[in-house]
Amino acid sequence: MGESIKVALFGASGRTGQAVARAGAAQGLLIRASLRETTRAILPSTVEIIRGDLGDANHVRDTIAGTIVVCCVFGPGPPYTDVFCARATELIVNAMHRVGVRRLICQTGAMIGRDVANWTLPVCLMVRMFRWQRPAVAADRTRQEELIRESDLEWTLVKPPRLTDGPARGRVLADVDTRIGLLSKISRADLASFLVGECVAPRYLKQAVYVTW
Ligand SMILES: NC(=O)c1ccc[n+]([C@@H]2O[C@H](COP(=O)([O-])OP(=O)(O)OC[C@H]3O[C@@H](n4cnc5c(N)ncnc54)[C@H](OP(=O)(O)O)[C@@H]3O)[C@@H](O)[C@H]2O)c1
Repeated sequence: MGESIKVALFGASGRTGQAVARAGAAQGLLIRASLRETTRAILPSTVEIIRGDLGDANHVRDTIAGTIVVCCVFGPGPPYTDVFCARATELIVNAMHRVGVRRLICQTGAMIGRDVANWTLPVCLMVRMFRWQRPAVAADRTRQEELIRESDLEWTLVKPPRLTDGPARGRVLADVDTRIGLLSKISRADLASFLVGECVAPRYLKQAVYVTW
């Protein structure tokens, strides 16, 4: 089904990224993974690796050129202080326009952005605390989403709650109206299947979709 689909994967070294690479390769997707110079990752042998920096426009363009789908699953790791997502996303959107790639799938998070209607009251309070503790990171991720929504690309924002490394259950609840509570979660394995599904057959074009168990 996905034999000829070429996917540029940004954030491929992360736990979601490696799960996407595995799930995508298993479905026959041709994956080109962007990795930082010193990053190590266990990726299937069919994955093409391009080393470079997400802040380097040439690296971003070279990763995207010749693909037909871009999938972004990067985000700051502990201590969650890196501010780079909006800038990297801007470079990705610009490069997609330049080389003529239209489909963009980007994972952010259920607590990023302004979709208050999707949050239970405790989650609203957590979002408020996160913004107070990490204002620059929170603003960066919100801007990342805005850049994608403002683009005229065929985008999908994928917004999971807490991620686990547990086994796949083989089912995902995905909806734009899903309410996220403090106990909401999803495994990276199921999330990766969902992301690969969106690479193969888009179902949520120009939508922000919440994905949980
Ligand atoms: N963890 C959660 O519970 C949770 C919940 C909801 C949403 N999310 C979001 O889901 C996505 C994936 O999460 P994850 O926990 O699976 O990811 P992860 O394992 O923390 O991996 C993060 C990825 O982002 C890259 N990255 C981090 N800082 C970078 C920088 N300054 N420049 C370039 N690349 C950088 C990492 O590259 P290196 O390997 O080179 O560092 C890695 O590929 C992220 O956007 C995250 O915010 C996470």
